[in-house]
Amino acid sequence: MLKYDIVIVGGGGAGLMAAIEASKNKNIKIAVVSKVFPTRSHTGAAQGGMNASVGIADPNDSYEKHTFDTIKGSDFLADQKSVAFMCKHAPDIIYELDKMGVPFSRTQDGKISQRPFGGASFPRTVYSADRTGHVLLHTLFEQASSKENIDFFNEYFLLDIDINNGKVIGIELLNIKDSEVLYIRTKSVILAGGGFARIYWHRSTNASGNTGDLQAIALRKGLRLKDMEFIQFHPTGLAKTGILLSEASRGEGGYLINAEGERFMAKYSPNKMELAPRDIVSRAIELEIAQGLGIGEGVKAYVLLDLRHLGEAKIKEKLPQVRQLAIDFEGFDPVKDPIPVRPTAHYCMGGIDVDDFKSSETSIKGLLAIGECACVSVHGANRLGGNSLTELVVFGKFAGSYASEYASNTDFSDNLKSTNGKEYIENLMKREGSTKLHEVRDAMGSITWSKMGIFRTESSLKEAYDELTELYDKWNHIPVSDKSKIFNTNLIELLELKNMLELSKAVAICALYRKESRGGHSREDYKERDDQNFLKHSIVCYNDKQELEVSYKDVDISLYKPEERKY
Ligand code: FUM
Repeated sequence: MLKYDIVIVGGGGAGLMAAIEASKNKNIKIAVVSKVFPTRSHTGAAQGGMNASVGIADPNDSYEKHTFDTIKGSDFLADQKSVAFMCKHAPDIIYELDKMGVPFSRTQDGKISQRPFGGASFPRTVYSADRTGHVLLHTLFEQASSKENIDFFNEYFLLDIDINNGKVIGIELLNIKDSEVLYIRTKSVILAGGGFARIYWHRSTNASGNTGDLQAIALRKGLRLKDMEFIQFHPTGLAKTGILLSEASRGEGGYLINAEGERFMAKYSPNKMELAPRDIVSRAIELEIAQGLGIGEGVKAYVLLDLRHLGEAKIKEKLPQVRQLAIDFEGFDPVKDPIPVRPTAHYCMGGIDVDDFKSSETSIKGLLAIGECACVSVHGANRLGGNSLTELVVFGKFAGSYASEYASNTDFSDNLKSTNGKEYIENLMKREGSTKLHEVRDAMGSITWSKMGIFRTESSLKEAYDELTELYDKWNHIPVSDKSKIFNTNLIELLELKNMLELSKAVAICALYRKESRGGHSREDYKERDDQNFLKHSIVCYNDKQELEVSYKDVDISLYKPEERKY
């Protein structure tokens, strides 16, 4: 049986950062498991940059100001010490990444460049044109690949986590290449598998593999998920496809205009305009469309992002990918035409609850969660653009260090494995039925978008929960029509769909119980923030009857008193 001291599930920015840090102890053997080849991880899709108060663009910036901006952006639902920890360590890690070889964009005098981003009081976002996540991911992969004590298991799908007596002892994987099930004994597992915004199947910036497999498995294993109702809708998805058009385009000076050519953000955020936090800009766009001020009708309506005044040279230098995406997917060149845009599901603020932000350990000993699949509570109800890559590298590094120390002081468990993935897959392959996978997935995407999207109500959320429960039952009648064992994507999509349905239900129930509006959660029937009753994290887990149950947990507000959020 295979044995590794640490198994990291996820080969994106957080997982690789953890692996590199843990590998500094040469006695520790590390496995990085990824369902895609690591350089195809979703970190590569992050465009505009990462926030760190390196103070190059403006020496008055500080980690305390970054901390406050993040807490305010979170609508005061972030855990404040956790945010301060991230912001304090971010600048040093930027320089560490610079030394590793991440090709950050530079100022004329060779220093690291910073650009403005939404909700930030200083130009704080360090970047590499508009391909920051891509270059970060490739650099980290190169670094991790050169370490002798890191092995990669590419194209393996997590089936189960083996937990014994409150301690992680192994994991079970499905080899996508040949459908064989593999068990790895381990002392520590770091979950780093990214988000689940693909529950909004028809309109998301996310890769189709961002299906929340690790969060769903954690939920089934009895772990708590936190703040699941808070989904971020990025304001500028391309109108036709929902593909991300970076916030960098507004950071560099782009305008949003409605059908009458008006810069409508003046009505919603007179101070920050297009650089208000994402929840505010997304709602503004949808409200303009609802008032008939969009271009086109219904689901096809959009507003325009105008970059023309930036000039061809700047667009080509700072926003090359934005330009290419607009040309390829909308047929408009931003040098000459404004680009049709509309909000799109982008990011999940919620995820696996961690008990300790310094180690990222969950309620299970040796089991850690980092990056978008975790909820270390640095984003609260709304994440600021540019804080996602920062979270990955900071918490990735500290988790790697903790896991390495933990593994050095822990023995492999003598208990036998308790998972039964082989039997589970064999039964699934034999399943008969006429329900079509794509029909259930399409139905899920329509429910999530229309009933638990940017605006929500009691009745839309109740309907969403009930309809998703029906779909979850239907899932049991979907057969695997492809019976082959080699690269059976039909089987993987079926497993992913179960995970998405389970998480969609968790989002719906947490959103239903949160009777207020805060950050990305906007209730039309409870329009105000209600600190009296809801300045708390939602926790969802299964009860003894295997029903989802919601409870609440205090928010750390030890540094700044919550105040009204004005921009
Ligand atoms: O718009 C963007 O470039 C996305 C950045 C982020 O989500 O942090």
